Amino acid sequence: VAFGATGCGQLPEAAGKTLTSGLRLPEPFKVPLHIPRVLDPVSTGPDGDRYEVVETSREVEIIPGTRTTVWGYEGTFPGPTLHTRSGRGAVVRVANDLTVPTSTHLHGGLTPPDSDGYPTDVVVPSGYEPHNHSGHEEMAPPETWTYHDRAKDYKYPLRQPAATLWYHDHRMDFSAPQVYRGLAGFLLVHDDEEDSLPLPKDERDIPLMICDRAFEESGEFRYPALDPTLQRVPGVERAYMQGVQGDVTLVNGKPWPSLEVSATKYRFRILNASNARRYRLALNPGPRDGASFIQVGSDVGLLGRPINHETLTVTPAERFDVVVDFAKYPVGTRITLVNELESGAMHNVMQFHVVRQERDESRVPDKLANFTKLAEADAENTRRFDFRNYLESGGHKWTINGRTFTTTYVEAKPRLGSVERWRFTSDFHHPVHLHLAHFQVVSRNGRQPGPMDAGWKDTVDVRPFETVDVLARFDGFRGRYMMHCHNLEHEDMAMMANFDVV
Ligand code: C2O
Ligand code: CU
Repeated sequence: VAFGATGCGQLPEAAGKTLTSGLRLPEPFKVPLHIPRVLDPVSTGPDGDRYEVVETSREVEIIPGTRTTVWGYEGTFPGPTLHTRSGRGAVVRVANDLTVPTSTHLHGGLTPPDSDGYPTDVVVPSGYEPHNHSGHEEMAPPETWTYHDRAKDYKYPLRQPAATLWYHDHRMDFSAPQVYRGLAGFLLVHDDEEDSLPLPKDERDIPLMICDRAFEESGEFRYPALDPTLQRVPGVERAYMQGVQGDVTLVNGKPWPSLEVSATKYRFRILNASNARRYRLALNPGPRDGASFIQVGSDVGLLGRPINHETLTVTPAERFDVVVDFAKYPVGTRITLVNELESGAMHNVMQFHVVRQERDESRVPDKLANFTKLAEADAENTRRFDFRNYLESGGHKWTINGRTFTTTYVEAKPRLGSVERWRFTSDFHHPVHLHLAHFQVVSRNGRQPGPMDAGWKDTVDVRPFETVDVLARFDGFRGRYMMHCHNLEHEDMAMMANFDVV
């Protein structure tokens, strides 16, 4: 019997209350929504744009009246947003001013392998001794590491359509705590096709990074997986199985924020950047027309046609690019974005306050991007990947096809330019993510894919005992890439595998 096969991603309220204790949390919707700052390139040339980002530690105010030490790109959480252009390419120099190694992965990027943020391809801070930093030599033998001294130029050709990508830390064994401390930000790819659509733009095109955190009494982040005193708290002993979940919901790094909007359409690029929590997002009150969220894009591109949703189930690392039409509400309405639990309870995420009328020339056209549906007959090959927890004498093991990750074992060798059918099975909630390869979900348990599965994706919500089939396209580059569970605690416990594009 699998563990926690129900209710994954949803801590009971009582346990949640115990996580952040002794700290006065703000009343919901008192803190304004923060929009991450846009990072300008330091230079733009014929070969693309050049950006410079420093990873550094800084004290910021998250819970009003307290200080939290974040590890952030440019010292901010979320990191700055990069606006890039499809096919133009970007070089991002990431300098490490922290005290630990880092590796930066552009999630959703069609990136050459040496810039993909492989977990053992690390940037080390000055004076760092490059040995003994991982407790698992069998997972990552010393000779398989690559070290960059203080900085590395990540090259992103971005030969891919407009999409909401994000970048985050991917250090071997430590991605979860390092992302938890703040190492995540948006990189948006734009293209002519997107520009030609009359979707909401500029100040009505807003990225929303949703994640949960717990806090110490001092205001510092509390990472419960490492806290033995919490293992006895009901609900929290499951941190190991379910990953780390906090009881404070942050949107763009602020607790339960509020945004003043006009009675017009807005485009929200929703990212679940939580380590382990899944959300079922809804609007309260909803517009009651079944179109609370008009989805225009998925993880790695715009859809062919918009899809109306009343709720959005968002698993870690997934993106939903949606339009919300506040013209459906009278001025003065406060609309809460909530997380609906299986119990029927609703937890706050953030609030929208409709404060004025405004002209709105935007609309959601029936036809969005050119979308090519992959045909099942295109698949050259079918491969199976079983995501499973094993209880052994040494404890639990998170495995793919019976193995925990090693840097040396290659699980699959798809051919460059090919399409393959990959079948994921699972004993638990596992958000399955492929580097490099974008895919389309073609079936769930032998039936039609679900309402959240549309479009080009790089992460798919594989639920307990499900069989999910995707058609993946291995385009762009040869070399070593990886797939893994994006529950970041499962990932750090080695639920990853290599594939070589040959
Ligand atoms: Cu968003 Cu390999 O990760
Ligand atoms: Cu998992």
